[in-house]
Amino acid sequence: MCGIIGIVGTVSVQERLIESLKRLEYRGYDSAGVAGFTKQGVERRRAAGKLKNLEAVLAKDPLRATVGIGHTRWATHGPPTEGNAHPHRAGRVTLVHNGIIENFAELKAALAARGRTFSTDTDTEVVAQLLDQELETKPPLEAFKATLDQLRGAFALVVMIDGEEGMILGARRGPPLVVGYGDGEMFLGSDALGLGPFTNRIAYLEDGDFVAIDHATARIFDDAGHPVERAVQTVAQSATLMEKGNYRHFMEKEIHDQPDACQHTLSAYIDPVSTRFAPPSGLDLSAFDRIQIVACGTASYAGQIARYAFERLAGLPCDVEVASEFRYREPAVGPKTLAVAVSQSGETADTLAALRWCKAQGLTTAALVNVHGSTMAREADLLLPTHAGPEIGVASTKAFTSQVAALTALAATAARQRGRIDAAEEARVARMLLEAPRLIAEANAAEDHIRTLAPELARARDVLYLGRGAMFPLALEGALKLKEISYIHAEGYAAGELKHGPIALIDEATPVIVIAPSDDLFEKTISNMSEVAARGGPIVLITDAEGARHAPEGARVIVGPTCDPLVAPLVYAPPIQLLAYYVAVQKGADVDQPRNLAKSVTVE
Ligand code: AGP
Repeated sequence: MCGIIGIVGTVSVQERLIESLKRLEYRGYDSAGVAGFTKQGVERRRAAGKLKNLEAVLAKDPLRATVGIGHTRWATHGPPTEGNAHPHRAGRVTLVHNGIIENFAELKAALAARGRTFSTDTDTEVVAQLLDQELETKPPLEAFKATLDQLRGAFALVVMIDGEEGMILGARRGPPLVVGYGDGEMFLGSDALGLGPFTNRIAYLEDGDFVAIDHATARIFDDAGHPVERAVQTVAQSATLMEKGNYRHFMEKEIHDQPDACQHTLSAYIDPVSTRFAPPSGLDLSAFDRIQIVACGTASYAGQIARYAFERLAGLPCDVEVASEFRYREPAVGPKTLAVAVSQSGETADTLAALRWCKAQGLTTAALVNVHGSTMAREADLLLPTHAGPEIGVASTKAFTSQVAALTALAATAARQRGRIDAAEEARVARMLLEAPRLIAEANAAEDHIRTLAPELARARDVLYLGRGAMFPLALEGALKLKEISYIHAEGYAAGELKHGPIALIDEATPVIVIAPSDDLFEKTISNMSEVAARGGPIVLITDAEGARHAPEGARVIVGPTCDPLVAPLVYAPPIQLLAYYVAVQKGADVDQPRNLAKSVTVE
């Protein structure tokens, strides 16, 4: 979603705004803009499309200011044109906004009735007009509070007011906003990553907070307008780093980061010396009779994979539901249910709402998140961290495998705490999980071969992914990856479902990717592959050495390491990610910032 930044600085702001916006690019956007207080008053520069277009505008017409705001826009109301790009301006107000103003239509009508005219299709301009109207009768902070009180929806705002050259205002209702503390300079931004080049001293605003920054201070108020303190934390250097090293894309780097990401994550759940599971926050899973996982997209597939482990290994019933449905379904949940929100960002609007709903029902809630200062992390009763490091590619890779690793470790913890496995079995499972990072690295060895398969797949219009058991949700994830970054239509199916409908789609032009390491279901999957082969469907089989011996004639085979089914979803994730990656590269697609997608979906 949109990225926002505000700088009350002492040196030229234009380069800093662009540098910060580049760091926020990963969130997804389709236009961008900046504004600053210049000697001539507030000036704006905006452009549709990528940041390079805005840079070109600034090269011709620099913004000579030290205090300014910037924005990358992911269009919600109105197309991604220069005119709809932020910052928006009305009277004395210039502002940028992330999120949605739900009551913008009624506010717009009321403002129009009072003679205000609008020049954009956005909901954002309504906020600028409203604040400008409030400023006619109130001082800035009072006017800002009065404006916020009239807005409905989930949003973050960063605002400049003419005549208040040393001050920037910010507000948070839903999407995150952080305050950065510099040396004689202050910052506001969507996340710590965006402020990385300037400071790593960060305060996270609470939901409902608003703030005024100047060169030296941040005055923070809660939603009732009372002054509040928010702790200033020094965030780890790693949380502000974003380098792709020698890789062409962040996604490629992040695929290769997975052994480390999983190892770091597992070290938070397993004591490697004693090979005992030691869950964070002292979580006692024997106190629960059911796990309810809520998540969106890739995170929900991680949850679906974990369900197999929770039920098979720990005998603990586990439901997984996409948060956007869960939150409105009024599900029946028992008091001994542990609700686990799984999210890379910890900010996804639907997942956060589902978490809050569970909390309101009195359930114990846990946030399994990669961003440890995120809203979910702070609101849940328990933080279950993944340690994947910042994930910049919009298509989730290392965050996904880290989620699977953490959830699998929790399932094993539950098995031990519920007396389903003894100490010897616990140690065996722990060792097996600790081995997984090495196997993930081994799986990457198929990369060169996978690259050679990309040209043929890149010509396909439709691709099917098949899997059984925990490989079924991995098939769903494989299809999502391909769709997201190569724009090829792809669907994942449980292999056994093929003959109940999807088989009608099979022809010579529809490749079928089968994810099937040789486990106790492998023979059944061979039958499904034969059904595809009999109808001329090209097959790519992702399997281990044993499975490769049974590949149907003519199938392309990607061989991965031999491993236990419990860790197979981790070990077989890199091949499906690499396949999607190289197909997207082959098609010349924008791998790290696919069209229409946002990294963190902070609106419904
Ligand atoms: C993954 O490739 C996607 N971009 C998307 O499905 C993502 O996993 C989903 O939006 C959930 O995000 P979260 O993990 O930050 O909550």
